[in-house]
Amino acid sequence: MGSQVLVPFRGCEDSHRHLKLMGDLGQIVPMNYNPRDVNSIKTAVAKSNVVINLIGREYETRNYGFEEVNHQMAEQLAMISKEHGGIVRFIQVSALGASASSPSRLLRAKAAGEESVLKEFPEATIMRPATLIGTEDRILNRWAMYAKNWGFLPLFGGGSTKFQPVYVVDVAAAIVNSLKDDGTSMGKTYELGGPDIYTVHDLAEMMFETIREYPRYVNLPFPIAKVRI
Ligand SMILES: NC(=O)c1ccc[n+]([C@@H]2O[C@H](COP(=O)([O-])OP(=O)(O)OC[C@H]3O[C@@H](n4cnc5c(N)ncnc54)[C@H](OP(=O)(O)O)[C@@H]3O)[C@@H](O)[C@H]2O)c1
Repeated sequence: MGSQVLVPFRGCEDSHRHLKLMGDLGQIVPMNYNPRDVNSIKTAVAKSNVVINLIGREYETRNYGFEEVNHQMAEQLAMISKEHGGIVRFIQVSALGASASSPSRLLRAKAAGEESVLKEFPEATIMRPATLIGTEDRILNRWAMYAKNWGFLPLFGGGSTKFQPVYVVDVAAAIVNSLKDDGTSMGKTYELGGPDIYTVHDLAEMMFETIREYPRYVNLPFPIAKVRI
């Protein structure tokens, strides 16, 4: 689109280096920020007219819980964007299945994030992608690494769980298309699934074919998946 893209990052300078090649000189601008420093977020947003919130994590760390990352950071960003006065579009990237009544704490935090964003910024657009697949995805790559290292893949419940994975490039295109169409704002929510539904077993078969390994599984009952060490 020719837009300048400011990429707030925390952590090391190497983490975003590859992004700089995705635009002309000066078009992709990494900006160091701290998610717990309001002023640094304000600085990151100051020169923008569009905010796309991609902050999220599907596991907790010692420093950050689900609620802070997936809910409070979104709320804070929406509040800052509203105060800014010049943000015309706010895209909140949530997750398929986000719901206040979900049994998953992550998905409840995602739902709370959506609600807070819409409260602060009612014109925001909510994108709820299904599991993302693509070059750096964290599902097929992780399975492939596991299978290469251990020679098998654990399958919970026989791999019968269903997925509707979506290609990351399609999700990016949906976000860009939405930015070009004001009719997609005003609190609209889009659920972004891929064209096909697969079971975990179907996907695992494809993964084994791709890495050219003979498919070997260890079947585990669902309750074992819940055990925490
Ligand atoms: N991948 C999927 O299958 C999937 C499916 C549905 C929805 N989503 C959602 O889509 C969004 C983008 O995810 P992604 O798959 O592109 O993952 P990603 O590459 O890991 O991006 C997540 C971003 O959130 C940032 N982040 C995480 N924890 C943070 C913290 N404590 N403080 C500040 N920043 C933090 C990460 O920064 P660092 O790099 O510094 O950690 C990273 O920039 C997320 O909201 C995710 O929940 C992903």
